[in-house]
Amino acid sequence: MFTRQEALDQVERATSPTDLFGPPTTDADLRKEAQRRYRGLAAVLHPDVVGPADVRAHAASAELTRLHHEWRQATSVELRTATGTYRVGAPHAVGSVANVYRTDGPRVVKVVRNAALNPLLHAEWQALRELRKFTNREPWLRPYYPRITDCSGDVARGDRAFTVLEPLVDGFVTLAEVKRAFPNGLDGRDYAWMHRRLLRAVAGAHRIGLVHGAISADNVLIHPEQHGVVLVGWSFAVETGQRLLATSKAIDYPPEVRDGSPVTTATDVHMAHALMLELLGRDETRQRAFATGCMQDNPTRRPDAVDLMGEYDELLDELHGARVFRPFALPHLKAGA
Ligand SMILES: Nc1ncnc2c1ncn2[C@@H]1O[C@H](COP(=O)(O)OP(=O)(O)OP(=O)(O)O)[C@@H](O)[C@H]1O
Ligand SMILES: [Mg+2]
Repeated sequence: MFTRQEALDQVERATSPTDLFGPPTTDADLRKEAQRRYRGLAAVLHPDVVGPADVRAHAASAELTRLHHEWRQATSVELRTATGTYRVGAPHAVGSVANVYRTDGPRVVKVVRNAALNPLLHAEWQALRELRKFTNREPWLRPYYPRITDCSGDVARGDRAFTVLEPLVDGFVTLAEVKRAFPNGLDGRDYAWMHRRLLRAVAGAHRIGLVHGAISADNVLIHPEQHGVVLVGWSFAVETGQRLLATSKAIDYPPEVRDGSPVTTATDVHMAHALMLELLGRDETRQRAFATGCMQDNPTRRPDAVDLMGEYDELLDELHGARVFRPFALPHLKAGA
């Protein structure tokens, strides 16, 4: 902790970011240390702490913010590809194998945490490229998949692979966040539009023989306002009939994955409906029965995603009649936060 006077002395004496935070570095521990120092100084100089009359502290606080920003800019990692340069910005999300960061441009970058898992990112590039070719033929399905714009390509031994993606940031939340916001589960009429769209995304991929392999609450992004659904996290994707390259401890897989058998499109059908059970309220008995019917142990007994689209619509029609747009928001967003 600093006193007001110590903080003022340090900030007013500094002539460059280095004076306050040390030389530019990409070392994680030194960066954390700089961040701690910034927070400590900012806390004592904050206008709410010093009061409205302390103009000297206000000026120092603004200068501190400027110097810290400059330091971060100077030390942030730059990722280069054959055609682009991306300066890594604020962390956006932590995934199962990679972290997603904002950049200084419009894109986000997904950087694998461990270079040993680079092959998973390679698999994802291939899947996303196949999906892109597919959605060029079927443009109405384009919004359902993430879009890769660039990637690291092969990297030196020990370096981490990364993917540059169109950002899905403004207004998007994961189904995991939705689940946390509704601990008693969702109303079936809200889950209806999410599941209809998820089924489309899954059925689309299956048309080109692609198995997602990790349909989980973290890998489904929802745009509550626009009723958008994007199936992300394709690094476990394989062609139907292959074995998954890796599995995640966080996912409750169907029997064929636990056995180490090859997966098929039926594997995704099981996972999508396990997710449905995870999200739906307890009293949604008809929809829950529908989900359970898609989760048979024997993969050949599970219905195809493409057929389920019609069957699910029939069930919804029976339960709720003609479809009407039902606004959906997360509770904290509803409060206008
Ligand atoms: N294009 C994107 N824009 C914004 N956020 C994204 C984007 N893609 C993914 N995310 C967020 O980042 C998180 C991690 O991304 P992703 O799921 O692709 O990586 P992963 O979990 O490490 O790997 P994978 O799921 O492919 O095995 C996601 O759960 C999601 O919240
Ligand atoms: Mg993921």
